[in-house]
Amino acid sequence: MAETPRFPVPPTRRRIVAAAGGVGLAAALAACGNSDDSSNDASSDTSSPSSSAPATDPTTSDAGAAPSTSAAAGGGTPLGKTSDIPVGGGKIFADQKVVVTQPTAGQYKAFSSTCTHQGCQVASVSDGTINCPCHGSKFHVADGSVAGGPAMAPLPPEKVTVSGGQVMLDS
Ligand code: FES
Repeated sequence: MAETPRFPVPPTRRRIVAAAGGVGLAAALAACGNSDDSSNDASSDTSSPSSSAPATDPTTSDAGAAPSTSAAAGGGTPLGKTSDIPVGGGKIFADQKVVVTQPTAGQYKAFSSTCTHQGCQVASVSDGTINCPCHGSKFHVADGSVAGGPAMAPLPPEKVTVSGGQVMLDS
């Protein structure tokens, strides 16, 4: 016959801590289990990073980057001559914070010159890319898309009008 203690075992500090630790461990394991479950779920969704890259689909920026070369001139800010913009390159207009490129002869595009990484002004256009001096991001002259990080988002398009050999920034 088992002996029943006459008095209940008093709750010592060690027992309380151990019990709390056990509960905490169980909670932590449960949390890890949930975390693992959700990360497994998330890993199946890696093809759609909608939460980290909103509205920056480079496939759609091309259309927005197209200058309105056929638009009637009027009310724009003169930037310079088309002859100042090299084919395959571009020119930065620092005062207007715009970079105008000419990916192919006669095709002009314009983008904000503010780097999408941390807001520096891009400083050069060379070898088919627009280059930020701060951390080395590069953007394609053709569509402003990222050619090299750390920037994740393309340069936003700007609208320019080309008329009579002049490039005008639409207002
Ligand atoms: Fe342009 Fe960081 S601000 S690369």
